[in-house]
Amino acid sequence: MTTPFPADASPTPPPGCPAHQLGTNGLRRLYGPEAEADPAGLYEKLRAEHGEVAPVLLHGDLPAWLVLGHAANLAAMRTPSRFSRDSRRWTAFRNGLVTPDSPLMPVIAWQPMCVFADGEEHKRLRGAVTDSLNRFDRRGVRRYVTRFADQLIQDFGPTGQADLVAQFAEHLPMLVMTQLLGMPEEYGPRLVDATRDLMKGTETAIASNDYVVETLRRTMDRKRAAPGPDLVTWLMQHDAGLTDDEVLEHLRVVLLAANETTVNLIADTLKLVLTDRRFRAHLSGGHMTLPDALDQVLWDSPPMVLVAGRWATGDTELGGRQIKAGDMLLLGLAAGNVDPAVRPDLSKPLSGNRSHLSFGSGPHECPGQDIGRAIAETGIDILLTRLPDLQLGVFEDELTWTSAWLSRHLVGLPVRFTPRTADGEATAKGLTAPTTAPTTAPTQPTQPTASTKSATPPAPPTAQPSAPEPPVPAAVPRQRRSWWSVLTGMFRR
Ligand code: HEM
Repeated sequence: MTTPFPADASPTPPPGCPAHQLGTNGLRRLYGPEAEADPAGLYEKLRAEHGEVAPVLLHGDLPAWLVLGHAANLAAMRTPSRFSRDSRRWTAFRNGLVTPDSPLMPVIAWQPMCVFADGEEHKRLRGAVTDSLNRFDRRGVRRYVTRFADQLIQDFGPTGQADLVAQFAEHLPMLVMTQLLGMPEEYGPRLVDATRDLMKGTETAIASNDYVVETLRRTMDRKRAAPGPDLVTWLMQHDAGLTDDEVLEHLRVVLLAANETTVNLIADTLKLVLTDRRFRAHLSGGHMTLPDALDQVLWDSPPMVLVAGRWATGDTELGGRQIKAGDMLLLGLAAGNVDPAVRPDLSKPLSGNRSHLSFGSGPHECPGQDIGRAIAETGIDILLTRLPDLQLGVFEDELTWTSAWLSRHLVGLPVRFTPRTADGEATAKGLTAPTTAPTTAPTQPTQPTASTKSATPPAPPTAQPSAPEPPVPAAVPRQRRSWWSVLTGMFRR
């Protein structure tokens, strides 16, 4: 079979045009408003049309293969001899088709770090990261999570309402990570703001990235003079002999990779708890543990929808498609997790089953998954314990997502609860039994806070119609956003 890919880029039709989703050779575009409006729907169309591996077009109508099958994803992840992590192999790069200002560049421009390395070099760089991460005592991580979760809850507790994305999920992982990196506690709030700015790709994103890099550099200088039991010290002292630049790059990868994924996992799990009465009942009734709940979310809403990518080392075959040397593969984690071959019935509970693709697999499998899980699990546990009558503050269908070509992100999760004093006491008569929808009018998601100490109280709710019926568990998993926008910052220096 000849490759269906074009040799050149072609112009993109305007949004709204029926041809918008289709590009050169009639291939579907993985970017643009239509694709971003319903990524899960697009994956299913592609699966129906092409099976396990589908030809798609990226920004600039550059060709890639989207891996949709669970087995095909595992094969691509686990055979680095056929599918390399080295983006310099991409034919589109070699043919000069990727312009420096391409939105793909922040994600796939090669960097001297473990993410883009194969073989012995990957082992050397990744070994330093995993050895260092493995030195953390899990109970110590959980203690940090508890402390910061309590601090965040104390900030919004007295108001009786909050946006759990902007005031909880987006803060907790970074606050914990600053401690693991051995940074002074006061760096936390500013780093939260800087990385959130990076993620949004605003005009100040580059300055925010500079702030992150500068903060890491200063921390390295300090740890060189006064080593401590932290990731910065351990990476600098590791036998792998990382250069200062390598240490800096890996600290940045860890910080940012850890943050956005864990933010998404917390936000999506809380959303499910608040909108799915059966899910919450299973959790509070002990039929489902919090780790099982996280896995259900990891199956249905992977924090990273796609991994870009892998590059074919030679002509080969995957999922029945002929892949040419230098072709790019996108690992479809979300699509693979709902592959009918492994999940013929999406409504069937998956308790205890961890064979989802959400942490990857093979040599690049996420080395921070235990830490990510510990932050999400402990943080959610503390929140649900401290605010047991937490309710959604808007109707479920008012929740919105921002989508990018590779990711999806819950914009806000407004909630209400009985106000608590700083010492955790309820200050008013408790709310009625938790429901899956508000009993008062929806409030707008609150603005993100500038720091953990400056939470802006949301507007008080006003009277409104009665609550809709609780939903049944989602049959079709929802996709999520945003590691890619993090990477936008990660590789922009
Ligand atoms: C729920 C949270 C997380 C999710 C869903 C997640 C997911 C992933 C995925 C899918 C990959 C790419 C695997 C591949 O290319 O095959 C990855 C890589 C990575 N993650 Fe995570 N991650 C999470 C949390 C963390 C945390 C907390 C850390 C650090 C403390 C971390 C550090 C890394 C690093 C360093 C890599 C690159 C590994 C390599 O290329 O060898 N992640 N993660």
